[in-house]
Amino acid sequence: MSIIRLENVTHNYGDGTPLCVSAIKDINIEIESGELVGIIGHTGSGKSTLIQHLNGLLSPTKGRVFIEGEDIWQNKKNIKNVRFKVGLCFQYPEYQLFEETVFKDIAFGPKNMNLSEDEIKLRVLEAADFVGLSRDLLEKSPFDLSGGEKRRAAIAGVMAMKPKILVLDEPTAGLDPRGKESILNMILRYKKATGATVLLVTHNMEDVARIATKILVMNRAQVLMYDTVKNVFAHSEELEKIGLAVPQITRICRELKKRGLALDESIYTVDEACAALLPLLQKGVR
Ligand SMILES: Nc1ncnc2c1ncn2[C@@H]1O[C@H](COP(=O)(O)OP(=O)(O)O)[C@@H](O)[C@H]1O
Ligand SMILES: [Mg+2]
Repeated sequence: MSIIRLENVTHNYGDGTPLCVSAIKDINIEIESGELVGIIGHTGSGKSTLIQHLNGLLSPTKGRVFIEGEDIWQNKKNIKNVRFKVGLCFQYPEYQLFEETVFKDIAFGPKNMNLSEDEIKLRVLEAADFVGLSRDLLEKSPFDLSGGEKRRAAIAGVMAMKPKILVLDEPTAGLDPRGKESILNMILRYKKATGATVLLVTHNMEDVARIATKILVMNRAQVLMYDTVKNVFAHSEELEKIGLAVPQITRICRELKKRGLALDESIYTVDEACAALLPLLQKGVR
């Protein structure tokens, strides 16, 4: 059974007004448990609207959202539990820090779950480990942290609820390469420790190539592709047509193939490219 299923989901902002925008249209998708899905697409293609349906922050204008087989709007009183099951981390989550200490901020979600004090403490410390925040930072004010630390503290707040489904909207936006790398690593750590399903909205194809198992491509309010990373990057020209860049190494291999090298269409990591190119070089292909 798929952990997430969307059935004909449409969302209109300003429904019934002259300003009505269909931000997502007739989405049908099933995501299996344990996947790490990279969600890509142009600004305005509907990515943020789509993911806000998964924890009931937005409700469909039409269609149904199923989490673990249950229609999340079947019983409106249940929506709070859906929010614990599906942890959503917004873009620039650091702007939502507000407590006196980092500890209290991370504890905010678990507190709402009515867990015991001991369990809350455990969750906070574990989440701090996932994101690599040292213990001494926990007693500081969130406003005294660096930009990167604030981002990590905010993500820890979502992880501390131990959601089965973790959804992050552009978690690496605005960070330098080291900051990006550390965010990707903490997502992988969380996934490995909990077995969670992860959805990651990103502009960065190299990020997707590095950590995703599947890619969901949004285009003009609809799903253009949902497939393995390899199969999606095999359509590199189609992606470029809608203005999405594929990883540099994929473009290089495509050009080499056009010049006659027997290369696979869908190479997307440097390691794969090396493995494919070395035997050709050894055979003396130029
Ligand atoms: N709160 C809102 N009110 C009205 N229109 C919105 C709102 N949020 C997003 N939209 C519109 O919905 C479409 C999809 O936006 P969004 O889901 O934010 O896309 P993305 O995350 O891919 O950039 C865009 O046309 C955007 O302008
Ligand atoms: Mg967005």
